[in-house]
Amino acid sequence: MIKPDAVANGHIGAILNDIIAGGFKIVAMKYIQLTQESAGNFYAVHKERPFYGELVGFMTSGPIVAAILEKENAVEDFRKLIGATDPSKAEEGTIRNKYAKSIEANAIHGSDSDENAEIEGNFFFSQFERF
Ligand code: CMP
Repeated sequence: MIKPDAVANGHIGAILNDIIAGGFKIVAMKYIQLTQESAGNFYAVHKERPFYGELVGFMTSGPIVAAILEKENAVEDFRKLIGATDPSKAEEGTIRNKYAKSIEANAIHGSDSDENAEIEGNFFFSQFERF
């Protein structure tokens, strides 16, 4: 997901450019705004964390871009491309280093395992929306 901060700050194009230049193929993509319920479900694994409420609030504050990406070793390579969750710790040149402002408004989300990529892809897309 390209998160609401990066969308609002006009970074959709630059981020998609970085993703494509990084060798990822776009399998599915949509521009949507999450509801409290859908964002709450998406981040349900963080339900007990102190930042959960704020995270859900932030993720519903404006539209996002959701996408399924494909590449050999995609999960690990995507995490390298986006950088650390906290942008102040993200390596130079990574998407969060370039476009994120804070640990909450951190521009982009990437799945942390193949299993979660499958779950998160199914959350947003039907079989007819994948190419
Ligand atoms: P993301 O990769 O989308 O997965 C969970 C999100 O929770 C994470 O990126 C951050 O945006 C957010 N997050 C993680 N830790 C914190 C924190 N300490 N305070 C606020 N938000 C956080």
